Formats: sequence, C-alpha cells, structure tokens
Amino acid sequence: MYVTQLQYKATMDVSLLKKLKAFILIVLMIPLCASGGLFTKDIHVHMTNNLGIGTILYLHCLRNSKEMGHQQVPYNWTCQWNFEEERMEFSTLVCEANLKRAKQLKFLAYNQSEDLCRDSCGWKFTQHGAFQFENGEWIFRYTWPH
Ligand SMILES: *[C@@H]1O[C@H](CO)[C@@H](O)[C@H](O)[C@H]1NC(C)=O
Ligand SMILES: *[C@@H]1O[C@H](CO)[C@@H](O)[C@H](O)[C@H]1NC(C)=O
Repeated sequence: MYVTQLQYKATMDVSLLKKLKAFILIVLMIPLCASGGLFTKDIHVHMTNNLGIGTILYLHCLRNSKEMGHQQVPYNWTCQWNFEEERMEFSTLVCEANLKRAKQLKFLAYNQSEDLCRDSCGWKFTQHGAFQFENGEWIFRYTWPH
C-alpha cells in the first residue's frame, strides 16, 4: 500500500513537471509570436503628400538622433518610417520636411512618452502645413516656415 502511494505520487510529479514544461515553453514563445514582442513594439509612421500635383515632399528623419535616411514622396503617395522601440526607451522621431523652399519644417513626428498614435502614426502635408492623425481626425500641427 505504501509503495503504490509513493508510485502514485511520483507519477503525479512527472505529469506536473510536464505541464510546467509546457507552460514555460508557452511563456517563452509569446515574445516570438506577438508582434514586436513583450519588451519591444513595432512603430510605423506614415507620411502622405497632399501638396498638389507636381509637388514633391522631401523628408528626412532622425530617431533618437540616429539617421533614418531621406525619402522623396510624390503627390498622393505615402511613405512609411518603421522602427522597433523598447517599451521604456522614450524614443522620438524628429523629421524635416521641405518642398525645396528656402526653409524646411522641423517637427516631432513621434514621441513615445506621449504616444498619441499608438502603433500607427499618420501625418499628411498640404499647402497649409502638417496635420497629424489623432483619435480618428486630422489635427493641424505645423505651418510651413517662411
Ligand atoms: C489624389 O488623391 C485624391 C484623393 O484620393 C484623388 O481625389 C485625386 O484624384 C488624386 N490625384 C491624383 C493626381 O492622383
Ligand atoms: C515628449 O513628451 C514628453 C511628455 O509629454 C515631454 O516631456 C518631452 O519633452 C517630449 N519630447 C520632446 C522632444 O518634445
């Protein structure tokens, strides 16, 4: 009787260990499956040229002072800036937009601390200036410098 109880206990431990292993595996899998993982997040910042036919929008962005490159966006086209950020990094995306005018518009395209746009941020540029998409509407943010 004593022996069977012991054997029973031993098999219990084994199945518990198996369950635990499965649980640990699942926990380890989550960061691989989830978009951006547990500690990082994928950020996409879209910028659309609504300036008018024949006007090219020139963009240049820096993320935390690191070079992200230049983009030329034709009328009615959208470009996208993608990066992965750490959850607690407080990153910013600072960009310059210009239309080959004398002065360029320098603006804060993304500020993690404010996180106005969550995973997907939208900007559009018209002759009036720059608008940011926030809570379902376009908010006027910047005028073109003279
Ligand atoms: C630009 O996009 C707007 C809105 O989608 C459309 O009405 C217009 O015809 C487009 N213009 C050109 C030149 O593609
Ligand atoms: C980003 O947002 C935080 C919180 O509102 C603010 O303190 C910080 O100055 C902003 N960063 C920049 C570069 O404006």
